[in-house]
Amino acid sequence: MKTYKIACIPGDGIGQEVVPAGQTVLAALAAAGSGFKFDFENFGWGGDWFRAHGEMMPAAGLDALRDKDAILFGSAGDPHIPDHITLWGLRLKICQGFDQYANVRPTRILPGIDAPLKRCQPADLDWVIVRENSEGEYSGVGGRVHQGQPIEAATDLSMMTRAGVERIMRYAFRLAQSRPRKLLTVVTKSNAQRHAMVMWDEIALQISKEFPDVQWDKELVDAATARMVNRPASLDTLVATNLHADILSDLAAALAGSLGIAPTANIDPERRYPSMFEPIHGSAFDIMGKGLANPVGTFWSCVMLLEHLGELDAARLLMQVIEQVTADPALHTRDLGGSASTQQVTQAVCERIAAAPAGRH
Ligand code: IPM
Ligand code: MG
Repeated sequence: MKTYKIACIPGDGIGQEVVPAGQTVLAALAAAGSGFKFDFENFGWGGDWFRAHGEMMPAAGLDALRDKDAILFGSAGDPHIPDHITLWGLRLKICQGFDQYANVRPTRILPGIDAPLKRCQPADLDWVIVRENSEGEYSGVGGRVHQGQPIEAATDLSMMTRAGVERIMRYAFRLAQSRPRKLLTVVTKSNAQRHAMVMWDEIALQISKEFPDVQWDKELVDAATARMVNRPASLDTLVATNLHADILSDLAAALAGSLGIAPTANIDPERRYPSMFEPIHGSAFDIMGKGLANPVGTFWSCVMLLEHLGELDAARLLMQVIEQVTADPALHTRDLGGSASTQQVTQAVCERIAAAPAGRH
C-alpha cells in the first residue's frame, strides 16, 4: 500500500489546534480504505522554538523536509516576535527554499455559509486566485540605512524576473484551462508601476498565445476589488503578483463568509520539492487554546494536498464531507456565528468519512 510521508508543522497560535485536526481527518480517510496511508512527522518549529533556539526553524530544517511527499502547515506569527522574523524565518524560508512559486487559493461560498454579498447567488462566487509566490513585492530585496537619523531611508524593491513571470503565467493559464469556464483575469497595475508591471502585461500576452482556448482579460488591481464585490460571476481564475494576490485573497475569503474556511497550496509545479498546504487564517492568538478555531480551512487545504498527491477520489470525498458539515449550522464554529468546537467539527468530518460507502470514493 502506498505510504505518503507528510511533514506537519503546526507553528504558532491556532496552528497547533488545526494541524492535529487535519492529521486526524487524513488518518480517517486512510482508515476508510482509500488504499493509502500516511506517515506523519511533526516539527515543533515556530515562536516557541525561536525563544528556545533563537531561530524559527533549524538551519538544516529544509533537509528534514526535502524527501517528504507534502507539508501540512498551520501558521507562523507570535505577538512577542516581530512579524517579519516569524514570516521570513519559517514560512517564507520553506516557500522560497523549495521554490513553491505558485500559491493557489480557491474560494467558494460553501453550503450553509452566510456570505456578505447579498446581491449574488452563492454559485456566482467560484474563484481560484493564483498568487506569484517567489518574487515581486516579497523578494526581500531592499535595505535600511541611517536608522533613527533624520536622513533615515528604507526601500523594499519589488523585483520581477522574466523567468518568474513566465512560469506563473503559464501555471495560471493551464489552471484556467482545466476549469470549466476557461476564463483567466490577469490582475495588474501597469498604469502606475511602469516597469515591472508593464513587463508582466507583455508576458501575459505572450503566454496567452500558448492557450488559444482560454479567454482572458486584464484588470487593474484596484478595479479588481470592486469587480469582486459587484460582478463576482465575471471572474473565475485570477493571477496576480505576490502582494496584490495577498490582499485580493483576504477579500475573497471574507466575501465567501469567513477567513476560517479558506485554504492555500504553495506548489512547486515541477515537483522538485515537497509542496506545502495551509489554512489562510493565520495564528489568531486571541482565540488560541480555547477550541474555537475553525478547522475547515485546514481540511480544505488537505483536499488540495490529496489532489496534489493524485488521490482524487479521497480528495472528492473529503470535499463532499466538508460541504455536508458546513451545511449544518450546529457544526459552525464561532467565526461563522455558531458555537461548535474544533473538536466537534473534526469528529463530525471523521464520522462522515467512516460512514461513506466503501468503494464509492
Ligand atoms: C498569507 C499571509 C501571509 C502573507 C502573512 C502571514 C505574512 O497573509 O499567506 O496571505 O502575507 O503572505
Ligand atoms: Mg494574506
